Amino acid sequence: MKEIDWGTLGFHYTEPDYIVRAGFHNGAWEEPYATKDKFLHLHVSATCLQYGQEAFEGLKAFRGVDGKIRIFRWRENAKRMAKSAEGLYMAPVPEELFGKAIRLALKKNMDFVPPYGTGATLYFRPLLIGTTPRLGVGPGQDFEFIVIPSPIGPYYPGKFHCTTFIVNRHVDRAAPLGTGQFKVGGNYASSFRATEPAHAQGMDCLFLDAKRHKYIDECSAANFIGIKGNEYLTPRSTAILPSITNDSLMTLARERGMKVTRRHIRLEELADMSEAAACGTACVISPIDKVIDPEKNRVYHLSDEPGPVLTELYHALKDIQYGRADDRHGWCTIIED
Ligand code: PLP
Ligand code: COI
Repeated sequence: MKEIDWGTLGFHYTEPDYIVRAGFHNGAWEEPYATKDKFLHLHVSATCLQYGQEAFEGLKAFRGVDGKIRIFRWRENAKRMAKSAEGLYMAPVPEELFGKAIRLALKKNMDFVPPYGTGATLYFRPLLIGTTPRLGVGPGQDFEFIVIPSPIGPYYPGKFHCTTFIVNRHVDRAAPLGTGQFKVGGNYASSFRATEPAHAQGMDCLFLDAKRHKYIDECSAANFIGIKGNEYLTPRSTAILPSITNDSLMTLARERGMKVTRRHIRLEELADMSEAAACGTACVISPIDKVIDPEKNRVYHLSDEPGPVLTELYHALKDIQYGRADDRHGWCTIIED
């Protein structure tokens, strides 16, 4: 076991022993292999550097109450990465290769799996980049798939607490027919103009739909959830990332007799919601206490403390991930030490 203060880890990179790599050349993937070298020998004209041919993923392994390690819904991440790859004209990583690379990254870094009860997890950052040197604008034919593991603590520091969001109508995260549905680096770089000023004010950024600035799109790098009576509301938008956490929470909400609705949600509807949250792998659920709309001089107050519905869903999902509840949907892949 590593000398790491698991309880104080934030959402920061901790250098693992090994990363895993596999290249794609002449139309074929090589076998994934583990290496201690964290540097790439990359051509300066590689398409990832010149034209942003890059996609990534994020998933976690949990040390359960029974001591077993569970990887949560990795096949969904593999499928989403394949869609991102196709969206950017890259070779999709076959699902089985993706799974093999994740398992190898875990096996080679067992000492970095945080113990049960610390709140920390082993996060995997799969990355796919175009490596062909090119000056002419267009996709390359060579790619590198890399899995970078890192133990992490919570995305939002502190325990299960509320975050304030601020609306920004001057920066759009993604266009309706753009790359918002894919997990590609460009979406994040282009949103810094909104997220960094929000962070500087101790808040996070709520993105509206880019066409009309009328509907809620996403909460920074997470999906939006609103609770209205017995209804679980989440945006329908072609510009947002299909969140695996949101999909899991929708299933859990339906199982609890809630009505789950995915539709356009007007910003003003926040006034009728009892609870709202951002959701994603990193934060699981991060409840929202208020949303500030400076241009309209309006503040939507939700709940100062995490509300009962989202608190229950949060614990229900974590109970499955930590092996405290029956994994009825087969979401966890158990890896024996
Ligand atoms: N939306 C964006 C833009 C994200 O980056 C993420 C994080 O992966 C999510 C939503 C949440 O997706 P998931 O629950 O699959 O992690
Ligand atoms: C998430 O995993 O929930 C994210 O928001 C990904 C982000 C850290 C890029």
